[in-house]
Amino acid sequence: MSEGHSTYTPKTGLGRWVDARMPLPRLVYDSFIAYPVPRNLNYAWTFGGILSIMLVAQILTGIVLAMHYISDTTLAFGSVEKIMRDVNSGWLLRYLHANGASFFFIAVYIHIFRGLYYGSYKAPRELLWILGCIIYLLMMATGFMGYVLPWGQMSFWGATVITGFFTAIPLVGDWIQQLLLGGFAVDNPTLNRFFALHYLLPFMIAGVVVLHIWALHVTGQNNPTGIDVKSKTDTVAFTPYATVKDALGMVVFLLVYAYFVFYIPNYLGHPDNYVLADPLKTPAHIVPEWYFLPFYAILRAITFNIGPIDSKLGGVLAMFGAIAVLFFVPWLDTSKVRSAVYRPWFRLFFWLFVADCILLGWLGSRPAEGAYVLMAQMGTLFYFAFFLVIMPVLGLVETPRRLPNSITEAVLEKNGGAGGQPAGVAAAPQSKG
Ligand code: HEM
Repeated sequence: MSEGHSTYTPKTGLGRWVDARMPLPRLVYDSFIAYPVPRNLNYAWTFGGILSIMLVAQILTGIVLAMHYISDTTLAFGSVEKIMRDVNSGWLLRYLHANGASFFFIAVYIHIFRGLYYGSYKAPRELLWILGCIIYLLMMATGFMGYVLPWGQMSFWGATVITGFFTAIPLVGDWIQQLLLGGFAVDNPTLNRFFALHYLLPFMIAGVVVLHIWALHVTGQNNPTGIDVKSKTDTVAFTPYATVKDALGMVVFLLVYAYFVFYIPNYLGHPDNYVLADPLKTPAHIVPEWYFLPFYAILRAITFNIGPIDSKLGGVLAMFGAIAVLFFVPWLDTSKVRSAVYRPWFRLFFWLFVADCILLGWLGSRPAEGAYVLMAQMGTLFYFAFFLVIMPVLGLVETPRRLPNSITEAVLEKNGGAGGQPAGVAAAPQSKG
């Protein structure tokens, strides 16, 4: 898709001068204006753009917050309160940033599930997918460290619990924990290094996003049929088609985000984080932010020893394994057909997997006792079975539905004839199959 030659022609003398020296306008034109995208992309494909906007919003609001924040355990909590009350529009900045983190994760989960549903991780997009997984890991580290900064009860105890899990790792566990904490307990050195890293990581994410989009422009976008682009009629120009669709997706998403910021700004937070951290008082339930809850449930589901592995290490391995398995998805899915649209059995298991993740998320917010533990164990079993058993086996045994001959044919079939094509696109050469 991207191997086509550039059609950019600078119109002014200055344009030609710049183009001969550093063809940045040509890059923008080729990547965001003339760039051919499959003509059948649906709104699930607007989330990459939404994520880009959210990353910029988080960086901008974060930089201004950092101008007023003080990373000292005696002053951090008060400095956040000062931002809320005394800094001009400080409340807005903080609510935008705190809710922005949640909405960033909402968007990334939709983006990841979209990829899983349409098989966007399959060849030749494996590296694109892996870069996405790296972004996701960096996002989790950033979110975790950011939550510690206001120095509330959940900040302190969340950090204590999570860093404590590293001690389960044999030989190097204690050393890793001390490195993270800058000492033997969550304290001032911890807050300082978390602040430094919380500031740094988003820029690293931005760097990996550039690689992610570069890889995307090499392979071209997947599409709901999962079929490769075969002819010019299968694509439309990025601008105006994708630009307008992306813009609508962004506006709707930002409206929902704005609703949270202006009407229910603390809905996604925990009230205990409005209480100053107290190392002598443990909260009744220590819960991480909602976007970590499924992994938290997996961590706590391992209540038994597995051979030489004790339950604590088992839980940590299961939690990291649940993320690590994502990196191998391109090779775990053995199906030759990408899109779940043509794979009825995979589609069924995909939706069960989505339900399983939601269930695990809910269980992560419950106390680890009684039936909740049993349910989390079943949920964890299904989570791993989906990747390690269902994906590889189903790809070999499932008979997919007949694929259309081309993207154009699929669009015309869906719209009952040529009426569905956008203005200015030539009629498809294929007849309806
Ligand atoms: C800051 C976070 C991220 C940003 C800004 C971002 C950005 C983008 C953009 C702009 C696109 C093209 C538009 C679209 O297909 O929606 C894209 C595609 C894609 N992304 Fe991401 N992404 C992020 C995170 C991730 C993560 C965490 C994964 C997976 C683990 C991922 C996997 C993919 C895949 C597989 C595609 C190709 C989709 C297709 O063509 O069907 N991305 N991303």
